[in-house]
Amino acid sequence: MHEDLSRVVYSEDEIQRRVRELGAELAREYAGVRPLIVGILKGSFFFLADLVRAMDAPVELRFLKASSYGAGTVTSGNVVIDIASDLQADISGRHVLVVDDIIDTGVTLRRIVDLLAEKNPASLKVCVLLTKTAARRAEVRHDYAGFVCPPEFLVGYGLDYAERYRNLPYIGVLRPEIYI
Ligand code: IMP
Ligand code: MG
Repeated sequence: MHEDLSRVVYSEDEIQRRVRELGAELAREYAGVRPLIVGILKGSFFFLADLVRAMDAPVELRFLKASSYGAGTVTSGNVVIDIASDLQADISGRHVLVVDDIIDTGVTLRRIVDLLAEKNPASLKVCVLLTKTAARRAEVRHDYAGFVCPPEFLVGYGLDYAERYRNLPYIGVLRPEIYI
């Protein structure tokens, strides 16, 4: 375990097992419709890569970038969404699945879902690896979730603190003294 963590919450094995289950479920759900999978950068990068490889089904990938934290550990509420790059092409009539790393306050995904809903997709669902139940501020429905996680600041498997720790293959609790 990395010395900046106080404990591991989800081991590499646990994550891989759960992601394979989710992938199989999604492949069944989207059989025959070639879903448009929209990954939210950068946190969903590792999860998305493993998830789509666990889906034995044709998919199309798009990305959009959202940021709200800066270098802190609390959502600022000022979510910046850069939709320009990969979502110019029409999504109307498509089955869209938004994939993100974690729902904390829900502010980020709420904004993204509202934005995409305006573009008239045939369906719009949300898949997250983690959902923190304690601090919900904006109502956001997730259709698929890997784990319900404790209300602590987690890093690894895509989750960062100030852009660090994303590449840890497991997820753990960052020692508070690292960010205080
Ligand atoms: P929300 O808008 O509060 O739901 O926050 C969503 C975003 O904040 C996620 O996509 C993550 O990038 C980040 N985030 C929320 N909780 C954590 C955490 O425990 N560790 C690292 N990043 C987090
Ligand atoms: Mg982040």
